Amino acid sequence: METSLKGKDYISTQDWSDEQIDLALETASDLKAKFKNDIPHRYLADKTIFLFFFDKSTRTRNSFEAGITQLGGHAHFIEASTSQAAHGESPKDMGIILSSYGHAIAIRHDLVPGEGNAYMREVAKWADKPVINMQCDVDHPCQTLADLMTIREKFGNDLRGKKIAVSWAYAPSYAKPMSVPQGLIMLMTRFGMDVSLAHPPEYALMDEPLRIAKENAAKAGTKFEIVDSMDAAFENADIVYPKSWGIESLFHKPEEALEISKKYKDWICDERLMDLTRKDSLYMHCLPADRGYEVTDSVIDGSHSVVHQEAENRLHTAKALMALTM
Ligand code: CP
Repeated sequence: METSLKGKDYISTQDWSDEQIDLALETASDLKAKFKNDIPHRYLADKTIFLFFFDKSTRTRNSFEAGITQLGGHAHFIEASTSQAAHGESPKDMGIILSSYGHAIAIRHDLVPGEGNAYMREVAKWADKPVINMQCDVDHPCQTLADLMTIREKFGNDLRGKKIAVSWAYAPSYAKPMSVPQGLIMLMTRFGMDVSLAHPPEYALMDEPLRIAKENAAKAGTKFEIVDSMDAAFENADIVYPKSWGIESLFHKPEEALEISKKYKDWICDERLMDLTRKDSLYMHCLPADRGYEVTDSVIDGSHSVVHQEAENRLHTAKALMALTM
């Protein structure tokens, strides 16, 4: 597939124009229809993508692996812990060498604030093939692209006046990256939605994504507010996206972070909160969700939930990103 995006990195949604994001979503919809109708779409025959993971994954790994196969190419799955990155090999050497073997490098490096985004930008500086961010400390642009696709499928492309609540929620499992809420506030403010961000005081997002979200809202004529309760964010919301994330300064101190989070066990998305939202509202989550903590079973399995459609759209959007850039 020859496109204007061939060779372009996708490290943050912010790196792509509105028109380029629109093209990615149109391509994803086209690929979804082809997949559903068994129409072959081998746009990347014999091409190779390297999938480099510093963290675990179900959806991201498998959407890229299945996606490249359907596009006629092949993926190499690389676990950072079993590669020479574990012995300190530089992102520069890795970028130069892997890009000489194939056609794209995709990276997940999301666990430590200050590291992942810088790592992938260094790889991209030296690689002469596109670098795709499969989640870093700052953004999860593959996830938020699938989220925007899902929201458009439900509400249409004109999202002006729609309110999305992006809220922290309690989870005991581990300190989840901050990149999904940060990616959401940056992207959804650009595409017509009014964003209400809710979190307890310790869970502030990073300064730069907050700055970008405010700037995007001002440019697009949308609203961006920060509130201190789920109730305030959920009031009349069209879309709710409650999920857990960690405390920026405490990713190295998980026990201390867990103690603080226990104060906010009542930050759970339940039926009472959903009743504050609009009748046709969507419940979204990037998954995996901590059921019984972040959200009740009745909400995630209920009529508002679009989590499985959202997860499915990870496949179609990953394919669009590969088909357009490789
Ligand atoms: N939402 C998401 O990125 O899922 P995985 O962690 O399973 O890839």
